[in-house]
Amino acid sequence: MKTSGSNELAYAGYRMEINGHPDIDITQTGRGTPGGEYLRRFWHPVAYESEISAAPFRVRALGEDLVVFRDKSGAVGVLHLHCSHRGTSLEYGRVEEHGIRCCYHGRVFGVDGTVLEMPGERAAERLCKEYKQGAYPAHLFGGMVFAYMGPLELKPPFPMYDKYDIPGMKIAPGPRMPFACNWVQVKENAMDPAHTAILHAWEGRFADEFAQFPEITWVETPVGMAYLAARHVHNKVWVRSTDILSPNIHSLTSVFESGETLKECSPPWMTIWTTPVDDHSCVNFGLCHLREDDHTPNDVRNRAMLAAGGQTEDRPYAERQRIPGDYDAMVSQGSIASHSLEQLGTLDQGVVMFRRQLRQAIKDVQAGRDPHGLIRSSGVVPTYGSDQIVEASSVPGNPDDPEILMAHARRVAEQYLKSPPLQGKKIPPLPPMPAHAFSPAGTRGGGQKAPANADA
Ligand code: FES
Ligand SMILES: [Fe+2]
Repeated sequence: MKTSGSNELAYAGYRMEINGHPDIDITQTGRGTPGGEYLRRFWHPVAYESEISAAPFRVRALGEDLVVFRDKSGAVGVLHLHCSHRGTSLEYGRVEEHGIRCCYHGRVFGVDGTVLEMPGERAAERLCKEYKQGAYPAHLFGGMVFAYMGPLELKPPFPMYDKYDIPGMKIAPGPRMPFACNWVQVKENAMDPAHTAILHAWEGRFADEFAQFPEITWVETPVGMAYLAARHVHNKVWVRSTDILSPNIHSLTSVFESGETLKECSPPWMTIWTTPVDDHSCVNFGLCHLREDDHTPNDVRNRAMLAAGGQTEDRPYAERQRIPGDYDAMVSQGSIASHSLEQLGTLDQGVVMFRRQLRQAIKDVQAGRDPHGLIRSSGVVPTYGSDQIVEASSVPGNPDDPEILMAHARRVAEQYLKSPPLQGKKIPPLPPMPAHAFSPAGTRGGGQKAPANADA
């Protein structure tokens, strides 16, 4: 039926589909699902070491309830939450010299899930050899506990990326950031730098230069993908790049500050793992990259980062409406976005590339192959998130021409693929985070402001 107007696109509410559906294969996380099996080929952070210091710590990851603990001998365990005897939660258990004791009938499980004790049980000798508690291998890195939840025979080594070991820099555990949405939305956000010029310019928290719309290119890398976003700022051309290390790691790189000096490359300031809790929620685990001489206590830094807002729901609704952040943008897409309803544009190329890689990787796992980004070697693995700043005059052509900027971004991408940015170069350590990055929302004063009617 035609509308009364000549434009079929206008007032189309009644004619448009409202019940869309997500791409199930890429968003499911449970055991036995295509996406869940793919994710189970990798190490995932499930807790910070600081979270397991006082008592057993209950977590949910990849749709499974788990308990994480450190026994008194120092060994770390990641076990199924419910006791294999009759199901009591081990979060109420007692940590022993070796293993954890269930509070109900006192069975003790080692970090590998073997049954060490069955108090009062006459058949204990035999049953301890037959019974077990579900356990996953754990690995400690950067103040975090990682678990490998896949088939034991396919367990890869823990991947060591080049950015963990940069002269003059150190790493420290960052903040925990839970999101009430599917993990794929969080990674898509990371490969969608177009939003930085809108959402984060509204926020007004970042450098003014962020509000300028970049020219963006995306490339596949040996371990995932990356975007390169080029801007002509003042008399320089700034290329910001962020990479995804498959399946669920991305980096945050710097924001341009007036007075920035020229640089060939720069380290990220935070690496972020997005661990699916289940299909409808996930947690970002941050790892901070800091100057060696940064002695701010971790909890102080992390509280400041969270207080800066935008990455959590822990802000008044009115403020979130006025100055929305990544949390609000991603979670309001729905707990799982309806992919079938989307109307994508050219700026979504990164999202499309990410999903294509993910689908292919899932197929590879289904076919019994190692997926893209799974690292079997124990050597140092190159990464591709970096910033480059050059004199605008060194870029051939007019840097205000979008084509010229795009050509520059593509050249830098080629350069990075040939010679990864953090390999074999002198890397300037990051400056300390600027004070305004930690200031209350909206105090920066720069960037594109929220429209006046949003203040009402
Ligand atoms: S339920 Fe755990 S020991 Fe009985
Ligand atoms: Fe963002």
